[in-house]
Amino acid sequence: MRKKQVAVLISGDGSNLQALIDAAKANDYPATIALVISNKEGVGGLARAQKAGVATAVISHKEYETRPQFEAAIHKTLEEAGIELICLAGFMRILNDHFVRVWEGKMLNIHPSLLPKYRGLNTHARAIKAGDKKAGCTVHWVVPELDAGPIIDQASVEVLVDDTPEVLATRVKLQEHEIYPKALLKAALGLA
Ligand code: GRF
Repeated sequence: MRKKQVAVLISGDGSNLQALIDAAKANDYPATIALVISNKEGVGGLARAQKAGVATAVISHKEYETRPQFEAAIHKTLEEAGIELICLAGFMRILNDHFVRVWEGKMLNIHPSLLPKYRGLNTHARAIKAGDKKAGCTVHWVVPELDAGPIIDQASVEVLVDDTPEVLATRVKLQEHEIYPKALLKAALGLA
């Protein structure tokens, strides 16, 4: 089986990256995590990639005057590595329409809410404040509108009475780690 070459874009701890790396170890998994790009140096996700023997690149937005220049550098790195699919996993930069259009249908994101509820940041605090009984996470295709693309998979958890955003986030993340590898599998097989 020819495996799809995947890049994971991160800005932080990379626990979702880890879940993807772990899933991709299986012989019959249809994707290889071939490259990790971080816009920040020294983050946990880079160490996770290095430990797993995955190539890494740090492309800092601070080194580019404009967002298109930053994104052109990312695009070039992806092209040179022969990347076919991108997984955004805690990548905390908004991507311009142009970049998104070029990679449309080839770029997934994981978002910590039951979309279409709570696009953007602070999703768990917003769910708790609204008195929601359920919170969760969504893997979706990336389109120019933020957190708005077609949904590939979702998972939900109960919101408990004494949940703080942090406690709820921890419970949701366990679900994130389940659904992201499954969604990437579907995407790599052309089934998403
Ligand atoms: C996750 O909650 C994900 O849903 C969001 O950013 C967070 C990344 O966490 N997009 P990690 O770096 O994968 O641990």
